[in-house]
Amino acid sequence: MSLQVEGGDAERSGLHGEIARLGPWFHNLRLGDSVATAPDHPLGDFPAYKWEKIGRALPEDMTGWRALDIGCNAGFYTFELAKRGASVLGIDHDPHYLAQAEWAARQLGLSDAVELRQLDVYQLDQLEEHFDLVLFLGVLYHLRYPLLGLDLVAELVDGLLVLQTLTMPGAEGGEVPADLPFKQRWRLRGPGWPVMAFIEHELAGDPTNWWVPSETAVEAMVRTTGLRIVSRPGPEVWLCEREAPSRHGAELGRARRRRPA
Ligand SMILES: C[S@@+](CC[C@H](N)C(=O)[O-])C[C@H]1O[C@@H](n2cnc3c(N)ncnc32)[C@H](O)[C@@H]1O
Repeated sequence: MSLQVEGGDAERSGLHGEIARLGPWFHNLRLGDSVATAPDHPLGDFPAYKWEKIGRALPEDMTGWRALDIGCNAGFYTFELAKRGASVLGIDHDPHYLAQAEWAARQLGLSDAVELRQLDVYQLDQLEEHFDLVLFLGVLYHLRYPLLGLDLVAELVDGLLVLQTLTMPGAEGGEVPADLPFKQRWRLRGPGWPVMAFIEHELAGDPTNWWVPSETAVEAMVRTTGLRIVSRPGPEVWLCEREAPSRHGAELGRARRRRPA
């Protein structure tokens, strides 16, 4: 898929104006040789360096695949999947980022290959389809109800899930018994026990960072959704596939019925 953004100085300065108008940007999208949306990103060329690893774990040709990008932001991953031939739905609850993604899709000539929709993770049950691939990158730790979110996400996965989350360092190792004796609860503080740190106030200046799980907690939570971990394509990234139906469908159903519309 070729970029439609070419041309001279006037076109470039018009693009820079649009980029400034739509900012601030979290995704550094390259729109041609000398135009990018966040060239001074504090994390570097973000998220291109993450996609380098994640992309290697996915087929080069995704023609015929139906993909969902949850928390798509300005659409970096949505566009990369579309460039590989997938039909992609990108959802985000923030209209600021969706406006960036809509604009960038036009600049990249990908508007026909992607659909962008304002939707919250907690509204995922409104999607009446399942997906060959679901991306759930950088969203879990923003959820006040992470397991509810993960269960809702997992339900939509027919094929693969790529999950990325911020994690708590240094909480690995150790064994978890099948049944923890009541009097051994001290083991909950031991190495390797799946734990999540609750952030009452802010982490990195962001009050929407609610929970920071350990890697073992991420993996344990994934297993309880009926998904299986296939590989670790990069730091804090898990490739998962469906192994069994969710064991918590009934509970999820009750949570849904209680949720205000
Ligand atoms: C840290 S950014 C990650 C963006 C992108 N997925 C990535 O990995 O580069 C989190 C994104 O998820 C969106 N988001 C956070 N909570 C959400 C929710 N409850 N429902 C839908 N989108 C959400 C934010 O608006 C933001 O675009």
